[in-house]
Formats: sequence, C-alpha cells, structure tokens
Amino acid sequence: MIKNTLLPAAEFCQRRSDFIAQMPENSIALISAGKEVTRSNDTEYPFCQNKQFYYLTGFNEPDAILALIKGDKPVATQSVLFSREKDRLQEVWHGRRIGQKQAVAAYKVDACFSLAEIDEQLLPLIAGKTALLTCQPEQAEFHQQILNWLAEIRKSARSGLKAPTTLIDCSDLLNDMRLHKSTAELDIMRKVNIISGAAHQRAMQQTQAGKFEYQIEAELLHEFATNGARYPAYGTIVAGGDNANILHYTDNDEVLNDGDLLLIDAGGELAGYAADITRTFPVSGKFTQPQAAIYQLVLDSQNLAINAIKPAQTLAELNRIVCDFLTKGLHDLGILKGDLAQLLTQKACKKYFIHGLGHWLGLDVHDVGDYHSSPQREQLRPFVAGMVMTIEPGIYIPKNDKTVDEKWRGIGVRIEDNIVVTETGFENLTVNAPKTIADIEAVMAR
Ligand code: GLY
Ligand code: MN
Ligand code: MN
Repeated sequence: MIKNTLLPAAEFCQRRSDFIAQMPENSIALISAGKEVTRSNDTEYPFCQNKQFYYLTGFNEPDAILALIKGDKPVATQSVLFSREKDRLQEVWHGRRIGQKQAVAAYKVDACFSLAEIDEQLLPLIAGKTALLTCQPEQAEFHQQILNWLAEIRKSARSGLKAPTTLIDCSDLLNDMRLHKSTAELDIMRKVNIISGAAHQRAMQQTQAGKFEYQIEAELLHEFATNGARYPAYGTIVAGGDNANILHYTDNDEVLNDGDLLLIDAGGELAGYAADITRTFPVSGKFTQPQAAIYQLVLDSQNLAINAIKPAQTLAELNRIVCDFLTKGLHDLGILKGDLAQLLTQKACKKYFIHGLGHWLGLDVHDVGDYHSSPQREQLRPFVAGMVMTIEPGIYIPKNDKTVDEKWRGIGVRIEDNIVVTETGFENLTVNAPKTIADIEAVMAR
C-alpha cells in the first residue's frame, strides 16, 4: 500500500502502463504535481495534489514531475519521477520528504531524480521524440517551462538533437481513464460514502434551533476527520431556511430557526476520492406539511432516476424522466399553474429545479470525463459499468417568490446520492445517510 492512497503501487503501475499504451510511438508525456498555495504571508493552504499527477503516481509531494516515455521500440525506462531532494533543514521545519531512492522503491517508478538534476536528465529524454504530451489547460507555468526546454533542445540542433514538433493535450485521455473506476477505487468510494453518511446522521442528531450553521459544519468535519477523511472534498454547505436557495452557500454563519429546513451538502475526501452527499431535514425534527410535500416529490424523483440507471442509459434520459416527474408534481401541488401538457413541453420545473441532475464523481467532486454534450446541452454519453455519478434533484423556492402561495416560500430541498453503474444496473454507495421522511424523523427524535 502506498502511504495515504489505500492502493497498492501495482494499481498506479497499471495506470501508467495503460496510459503509455495509448501514447503515440516515440513520444514523452510530462505531468506536473501541484504547488503549495500561499494563504497569507508565510502560511499555506493545506496541500492538494494535482489529481492527474496523483492518478498516475499516488505521490503526494508538491513540485514533482512525472515523465512517461514511449519509444519507437520498447524501452526499459518508461516512468521517471523528478522530486524534491532530501534536505535536513527543510524537513525539520516543514516535514519529511521521501527523496529519490525511497521513491523508486515505494512508487515503483523506473527512476527518480532530484529537481536539481532535471535539465541534465530530462532534456535527453525529450530530445528525439516526435510528440510531447501534457495536460495543457492547467499549469500555465509548467507549460512555459516545457517551451523553455524545447527551445533549449533546438539550440543544440547542430549536434543532431531534435525537439518534438507535436504538442498534444493528453487531458482527455487521462480524463477518460479516470471516468472508469477500478474495483479498488470503488472500495475507497464506498468507504468515503459510509464516513460521509455517518457525518450526515451526526449532523441530524446535533441540529437544534438556536445553534449556528457553522456548529453543524463542525460536527460534519469532526466525523470526517475522526474516520480518516481528514478534509472535506469541497466547501461544506450548511444552509438553514432560505439559504438553501443559494446553491453553493458556504458562509455557514447564520442561526438555525425552528420551522425551517436545513440543507447540508457535504462529503469527505478519502485517499483523494470524494463523496458528495446532500440531505435536507427540518431543524425541529418534524417536517411541516408543505415541507413534506416538496421533500417527498424530490425524493420520489430521485428514486425514479436512480432505479433507471444501467449500462447504456444516459444523463439526458434521466434528466428527462426527472423533469417530467417534477413538472407534473409541481403542477399537482399548484405551484406550477396552467396546462400540464404545455408545462411539460416547456420543461416548466426548471423554474425551481435550477441545476443539472448529476455529474461524474471520483478524485474530483465534479469529476473529469467527457459528457458527450449535444449543442442543446443534453448529456448523451452512454453509461458503462464502473462509472460513478451523483443523482441530485432539487426544488428551490426562494422566500421572495410572490408567484406561489406563501406556505411554499423559503423551501429549498436537494437530495444527493452517489451511484455506481454496474453490469446489471446500479449500486447506491450512499447507504447510511437517512433519507426517507420516516427515517429522518426517527433519527432526529433520538
Ligand atoms: N457539492 C456540489 C455538488 O453537489 O455538485
Ligand atoms: Mn453534486
Ligand atoms: Mn453536493
């Protein structure tokens, strides 16, 4: 097992060789690690590794560079890591560095050199290659460094060295690999869902009118960290009452009021993998009738979508199913008024269901992977076993919406689970965050 990854080195070796198999003949790929980011003066944000680099290495130090090499005939050295050298003083102040010798043993790369040696070691690997692959949209600074190396090689043209003439963005290739999860990745995603589900349950039990949103946030973070998911995968949303109608509300600084709903969108990150779970429940522990009506509608729509997940299904089709269901439900409740057939054609629920139904999930919360979106923004990519996505319908009725009866105003509900496509259908990873009205009320009554 590689430290902090919950995965054996063999899994990363397999990813590198799958990636190399898809590289063009006689090419080199250069993937850069993340950099530490200053928070203020001389303090940094907690380090988050570049996920493309992490996916291929499991290596969690900043500033490193991975070179993957494919010759026109098989080469013995395919994976070369460049990392920070060991440094007693730096390590005493800032933490351990694995160094080059141990990195080869732990990460099973073919060679590892210090960053001080990079020009000397890397330029000969780049020279003579036809193509150079890199993740271009990110890391402008690294891209500039690559251009400098290419210029350096061109300077030596008279000695017969040639720089690659083709630059290829390999993001799509990596994104596609990341979209399809292995058995070991799914195990981690199951674990982080259980940890995060327990955090939601704890939040329900700790909620009380008069507490502040950040106090509930503290309960969530405590449960994540105590169980090994030390950081949240994204900014935790604890939104009481009308705050739920701000989709990415992270202020979390207001008091909770009796009679309001509380929407929590929170997930931990474990070994780099995210959970993304939303639950909505009454601060008092008991849904009012209008709250229950909206809640049940959203829940039924979510179950409809989840139960339709199987290979070859698409997000576009799930969106259509949910949109029709919510439009009809909102019409039945008198929130959408007028001719139902017309409302269905207009996708009228979109006035209150103001975001997409779901997204890929993995090392990033909004994970990479092409959606095969049509010009009409329909997501047409057919599901295959091993893909993981969220299903998160919601209805948001802001307090100032004068078009609806007063009893509906200020209600914001989202329910979000994490689902794996299996050979025969789906597996819901979100198994322990209470979700039915009866289960939520029972947990909150304890
Ligand atoms: N937590 C962000 C989202 O649900 O997409
Ligand atoms: Mn989500
Ligand atoms: Mn979410």
